[in-house]
Amino acid sequence: MVQKKIEEINELGQFIPLHYHFQMLSDEFRMNAFKNAIEQTVTPQNKVVELGSGTGVLSFLAARQGAKVWSVEYNPALVSASRKFLKNNGVSDRVTVIEGDASSWLPEEPVDLVICEMLHSALLREKQVQVIADFRDAHAARFGKIPQFLPCATLLAVQPVWQNYDFHGFHAPVPLFQSAYARTDDCSPCCDPVVYKIVDYDHAHVENIESVLLFQPQQDSGVNALRFITKSVLVMNLSTGKTVDWHSQHIVLPLEQPLQLAAGQTMRVSFNYKPGDSIERLNQSIKAEAE
Ligand SMILES: C[S@@+](CC[C@H](N)C(=O)[O-])C[C@H]1O[C@@H](n2cnc3c(N)ncnc32)[C@H](O)[C@@H]1O
Repeated sequence: MVQKKIEEINELGQFIPLHYHFQMLSDEFRMNAFKNAIEQTVTPQNKVVELGSGTGVLSFLAARQGAKVWSVEYNPALVSASRKFLKNNGVSDRVTVIEGDASSWLPEEPVDLVICEMLHSALLREKQVQVIADFRDAHAARFGKIPQFLPCATLLAVQPVWQNYDFHGFHAPVPLFQSAYARTDDCSPCCDPVVYKIVDYDHAHVENIESVLLFQPQQDSGVNALRFITKSVLVMNLSTGKTVDWHSQHIVLPLEQPLQLAAGQTMRVSFNYKPGDSIERLNQSIKAEAE
């Protein structure tokens, strides 16, 4: 891989070590959502690619449905670990693990479904949008068709909050992650969240996300941070309208200066970033003021 790419991978911390994969494997909300989505979607007739396959767990779930699977992973440590896991889990006859960059790899034959879970909070850091767009465009150019994507879309929303940043009397407003599925007593919402972007993987291109949003709290409120919410629609059943969804962790980013808003007063928030940017890039772009 070219030096520039390796530097960017290191800067964004994208060579996720094996011990971090334990968090992903044991995250029941994540695993149940992907398992349900894959079981609803994949049939034995399907050809499936997984982009960024890590330990191979999602490829395993697709292979267990009887599909033929190619798993593309660029971290050599994960490539050898996943080959071993897939063999020990009895699906290595249906899964081929490829060591390579998912942005530039194409299968020899067209595929029906692409699974890709590089879903970092606010679509930061990981290259979900870039990798899918590159694969989709190359697949369409070579085979004349666009496969189905799992997830099919990601909704991005933002919400002004008051976050407690006191740690044993030490005040430190630092970026933090929150489970979307647990109570967050030390973080109080001031207004409802607003969707600022819908990423549709059939069409999405990597473009600047520039948002200017107005919020009006219903009661007097302090605001010292923005909570970014990342909800992915893994599959949608078009006949029932039901979806299988999964929330990545929320990321809460502190404002430069806390604001005090009176009930009904308008707060203007703006930020801009590209999918795959660093957390710092988004945080530095945030401007918030009371009008
Ligand atoms: C969030 S992990 C998910 C792993 C696995 N899909 C799962 O759900 O458990 C993302 C994985 O994508 C890999 N990855 C990121 N960018 C990649 C790229 N351009 N090509 C190949 N693998 C990539 C990372 O090394 C990591 O293993």
